[in-house]
Amino acid sequence: MSILSGKRILLGISGGIAAYKTPLLVRFLKKKGAQVQVVMTPAAKDFVTPLSLSTVSERPVHSSFVEKYAEDNPRWNNHVDLALWADLMIIAPATSNTLSAMAQAVCNNIVLASYLSSTCPVYVAPAMDLDMYAHPANQKNLQTLQENGVRLLDAEVGFLASGLEGKGRMMEPETIVAQLESDFEKAAPFYQKTVVITAGPTYEAIDPVRFIGNHSTGKMGYALAEKAAQLGAKVILISGPSALEPQHPAIEKVAVVSAEEMYNAATAVFAKADIFIAAAAVADFKPKEKALQKLKKDQGLEHIALVPTQDILAHLGNEKENQYLVGFALETENEIENAKGKIQRKNLDAIVLNSLNDDQAGFGGDKNKITYIDKTGDTYAFPLKAKSEVAADILEQILNGLENTP
Ligand code: CTP
Repeated sequence: MSILSGKRILLGISGGIAAYKTPLLVRFLKKKGAQVQVVMTPAAKDFVTPLSLSTVSERPVHSSFVEKYAEDNPRWNNHVDLALWADLMIIAPATSNTLSAMAQAVCNNIVLASYLSSTCPVYVAPAMDLDMYAHPANQKNLQTLQENGVRLLDAEVGFLASGLEGKGRMMEPETIVAQLESDFEKAAPFYQKTVVITAGPTYEAIDPVRFIGNHSTGKMGYALAEKAAQLGAKVILISGPSALEPQHPAIEKVAVVSAEEMYNAATAVFAKADIFIAAAAVADFKPKEKALQKLKKDQGLEHIALVPTQDILAHLGNEKENQYLVGFALETENEIENAKGKIQRKNLDAIVLNSLNDDQAGFGGDKNKITYIDKTGDTYAFPLKAKSEVAADILEQILNGLENTP
């Protein structure tokens, strides 16, 4: 499946001869699973018809600010909505006029208005005669646009409509699509990877209303889930009781309560994980028996017999095939040595050591201070940071580790 699948693409067409190639561009983008909405300048209609474009895009094409459905019933084409709908805008072909207008914030057609209202990545595919393209005024406009964040689909060298040969041909539609795919894949290094994350505490029932638990809020695990999803991963978040909810649509949450439920959920999905991160604060012990009725205080309770819970991470370390397995550790003495010991014992690829030596780090807070240790013993100590930034650091280390894994 292409990374462009499901992407919403706004294609702005301006009036140059290369516009005749745009139905093909729409077709290729649609083949990749993208939705394509076409807007075009009035001049573009001299080179390619709205009917061709609406047919291949399967959507109405907009070429003016106002659509006259009936003489007395004009409707405004909301360029702001169009721009905000888009995950990506391509202006192809981008003529000298259009590039100049974009650089100056001129807004006299729906393509320019959509561009100026956009917040998504914008690409331009210039097309013009070779001397026009080389003209310092055009080169300056392109530079201004790139400084404004616009990405260049650079013109190609070849045969031009003027009969001359040189640099100025619009990039071929196939090449545009390949370039977009490559850019989006680079921005989503976890694309097509499944990341499973455990998060939060577990509650071990004493009776129907009481439990043994801990102060974990799940913030670190949820931050990892959001960041991994932003980087293109499909995320399965196995969460103990937490007030948090995932925001990103690529996160599937599996809510559990006890260590046993977390174990069952984790082992059920482990085979499809590429990366497994155990960020949960799993209870190490649970009551040997759960009372079926609420314990009454007048009956007295001298002790609660405990038995160990199953160590989820150690179990997965035994089972693991190609999964990249990352644990967390909280140590109070011989931190690095103990954490390295845990890598060996649980057969991990890396461990994230939480520092207890900072007031602002750890349970409940928005910040954390970690040391990342991989199985080769390489150790990376990070300063105190927001948990979202810590998540980015951890995922970057995991990517480095994956790249170095044969
Ligand atoms: N973990 C787990 N299942 C458990 C206990 C822990 O998956 N039943 C995972 C945690 O999510 C964490 C890692 O194991 O990623 C470290 O847990 P920790 O409790 O610190 O390690 P232990 O091996 O239990 O060692 P100790 O408590 O003696 O430090």
